[in-house]
Amino acid sequence: MELSFNTYNKMYCYNSRQKNPSFGIKIPELESAIDAFAVKKNNTFGEEHNLIKKIKKFAKMIFQQESFIGSGSKNKVYDMGKYVFKIPKNVFISPKKATEEPLNLIGKIIKNENPLNIDSYCGESVLQIGNLKILRNIGEHIPCGVPYSKIDKMSKEDIENYYFENYFKRIIQVPQSSFDKFARDIKKIKYPATIDFHNPNNTAITKDNRIILIDDLLKYNKYCGENSTVKLLRIFMLDATLDVYTPVFDKHLNEVRSLFKKIILSGEKAGLLLSNGIEDKPLLNDALYKCRAKAKYEDFCQKIAEIRKSKDCENVKYKKIESYIDDIFKD
Ligand SMILES: Nc1ncnc2c1ncn2[C@@H]1O[C@H](COP(=O)(O)OP(=O)(O)O)[C@@H](O)[C@H]1O
Ligand SMILES: [Mg+2]
Repeated sequence: MELSFNTYNKMYCYNSRQKNPSFGIKIPELESAIDAFAVKKNNTFGEEHNLIKKIKKFAKMIFQQESFIGSGSKNKVYDMGKYVFKIPKNVFISPKKATEEPLNLIGKIIKNENPLNIDSYCGESVLQIGNLKILRNIGEHIPCGVPYSKIDKMSKEDIENYYFENYFKRIIQVPQSSFDKFARDIKKIKYPATIDFHNPNNTAITKDNRIILIDDLLKYNKYCGENSTVKLLRIFMLDATLDVYTPVFDKHLNEVRSLFKKIILSGEKAGLLLSNGIEDKPLLNDALYKCRAKAKYEDFCQKIAEIRKSKDCENVKYKKIESYIDDIFKD
C-alpha cells in the first residue's frame, strides 16, 4: 500500500491522495450559531433546540473523511473551521454495524462555565451535546510522534520513517521560547489535574511553533503522578505513539541532545518539578540513554537540584545547567 503525505492536514495517508482536501472547512452559519450560544449566559430552550437543529443539518458535511483530522484511542476529531467536532470512535452518522452507534444530540447542552484559560491547553470542550464535544480548533498542526490512527497499518519501518521525516524534523526546529511557554503553562495545571502524557499525540505543534495540549486532563493517580519535566521528555522524545517507544536516535544524536537540553531548560525556567520519583525514574534514565549521556538518574537529579539551590541568579543557573548537560554529552 502506498504511503502518501497530505500537506493540508500534515498526516500520512494510505488511501490515494485526496483531490480536494478541505482542511479548514468553513460553515459560517454554524460557526456563528456556536459562538452566539457559547457567549450568552442563559440560553433558552428554543436557542438550544435551534443549535441542535443546525448541527444536524450540517452533520453529513462535518463528519466526512475530508474533514477528519485525527483520532486517539477513544475519539475521532473533525475539522469545522474555528471549532473541531469530537465524537467517540464507534459513533457514525448512519450506523451500519451492531457495534456502531448514532450521533446522539439528545439532552442538555453542557457549557464549559469555568475554562482554565491556559494558552497552551485546548482540550476543554466549549460545548458538549450528548456524545458530541465541540472544541476550539488549534488550526494546522502536527501531533507529536506518529498519529495513533495510522499505526495499525504501518510497519516498524514506516513508523520510524514517519517519526524522523515528519515529527522529529519539525520538533527540532521549535525554538526554546516555545518550550518555555509550554512548560510555564503546564506548571499552571495544578494537582490533582495532570496532563495526559501517555500518548504524545495529545500534544501538538502548530504552524506558528506553539506547543498545545489538546486532550482531556487526567486526575492524579498512582500511575501518572504529578506533572514534571520528565513527562515532557516522554512526550517529545521517548514515545513514538501510544504504547510504542521511539526508535534509537544514533543518526540524530546532536539533534536529540539539543532537544533534551531545551526541554530540561524549559522545565527549570518554569520551576516545574524535574522528576516525580518512581514512575519518572525509568523515563529519565531512558532519555539519558537515548542521548548517550554519561550520567544516570541519581547523578542528574542531584546535580540539577544543586544548581537550583545555589544562590546564583537565574541566568547563571541556566548557563550552569547547559554546561553540565554539555559535559555529560561529551564523547
Ligand atoms: N482542538 C483541536 N484542534 C485541532 N485538532 C485537534 C484538536 N483536538 C484533537 N485534534 C486532533 O485529533 C487527534 C486526536 O485527538 P485526541 O483528543 O487526542 O483523541 P482521543 O481522545 O481519542 O485521544 C489529535 O492528535 C489532533 O491531531
Ligand atoms: Mg488523545
